[in-house]
Amino acid sequence: MPLDGSRTLQVAEGTSYARILGVGAYRPRRIVPNSEVVDAIDSSDEWIQQRSGIRNRRWAADDETVEMMSVEASRAALAHAGIDARQVDCVVVATVSHMLNLPSAASAIAHELGTEQAAAFDIAAACAGFCHALALANDMVRAGSARHVLVVGVDKLSTMTDRTDRGTAFIFGDGAGAVVVGPSETPAIGPVVWGSDGEQYDLIRQDKSWTDVLADDDPTYPFMTMQGSAVFRWASFTMAKTAQQALDRAGVKADELDVFIPHQANMRITNAMARSMKLPEHVRIARDIAEQGNTSAASVPLALERMLAEGEAASGDVALMIAFGAGLAYAAQVVVLP
Ligand code: UT7
Repeated sequence: MPLDGSRTLQVAEGTSYARILGVGAYRPRRIVPNSEVVDAIDSSDEWIQQRSGIRNRRWAADDETVEMMSVEASRAALAHAGIDARQVDCVVVATVSHMLNLPSAASAIAHELGTEQAAAFDIAAACAGFCHALALANDMVRAGSARHVLVVGVDKLSTMTDRTDRGTAFIFGDGAGAVVVGPSETPAIGPVVWGSDGEQYDLIRQDKSWTDVLADDDPTYPFMTMQGSAVFRWASFTMAKTAQQALDRAGVKADELDVFIPHQANMRITNAMARSMKLPEHVRIARDIAEQGNTSAASVPLALERMLAEGEAASGDVALMIAFGAGLAYAAQVVVLP
């Protein structure tokens, strides 16, 4: 029976605005310098630094699982936000390297943190995952689906990397970054500009499906493959336009920006984007890749955490974030830093 004037459906009421209330990070214990990866791929420290800007990356040990790294990063984010785990209504985890398809990493993480049965689910948008999850969290708080959302970007790509593959072995690292999103009295998360370039969906992909693995007489782990130059060209040319659209939609001019936090894919991509957007000198640019490598879904929150911890960025700064990767998926938004 249709609802008429006498029977009205109640809908959730949210808040006008949402903001990032706190940030946390987990960086694995083991630092892996270029010298440790070069022999297997016939490369050199000089080549890797010149082509990617990477000096070190971190590879997680067996006990540094996706769940463990996420819980550590989340605890730090909750402490920074001054929010108790019991106040978290929803946990969203962006990852492509949780080795259980079910249950989600998020449900284990929500339980371990001591939330009171928070809604919990994972999303798979690879390196672009964190900015996708942040957009969802913003919408949830504003729509009234949740008051506090914990967003985690986590990946352990060392388990999916062929150490002898010249195109990927030196790039990827492991880690987790988390933010708490909650109500705000003023606008603090701008509109997301996102999408996916499906025509190029397989430029970065798992080399075989789990079905292929099981059909194999001598099964080996699936690895990640990447057509690096094509991805490089796409990211360098297209992503600056997406970043500019995020600025435009937020009504922020480049010279009003304090901080630029692009996905830490390659230092040359970051430089090309900054040049193409004509970012003024005063804009501080995240360069976490030098010490962390490309940590996929963790790269934007890890870079954000480092900038705040090292005083390169401050609470109240206006930051442009953009993440992009397999899919080819991308998402960008302007935020006010906690
Ligand atoms: O996070 C998801 C998004 N990912 C990205 O955005 C990554 C985008 N791609 C890249 O960052 C770059 O493509 C790489 C860093 C992966 C590679 O850099 P490149 O400048 O695109 O190198 P290339 O593949 O075009 O190769 C250039 C040269 C070649 O030699 P010749 O043909 O010029 O003599 C390669 O054989 O470098 C050689 N080469 C290497 N040399 C030493 C390729 N890989 C290596 C290597 N060490 N690891």
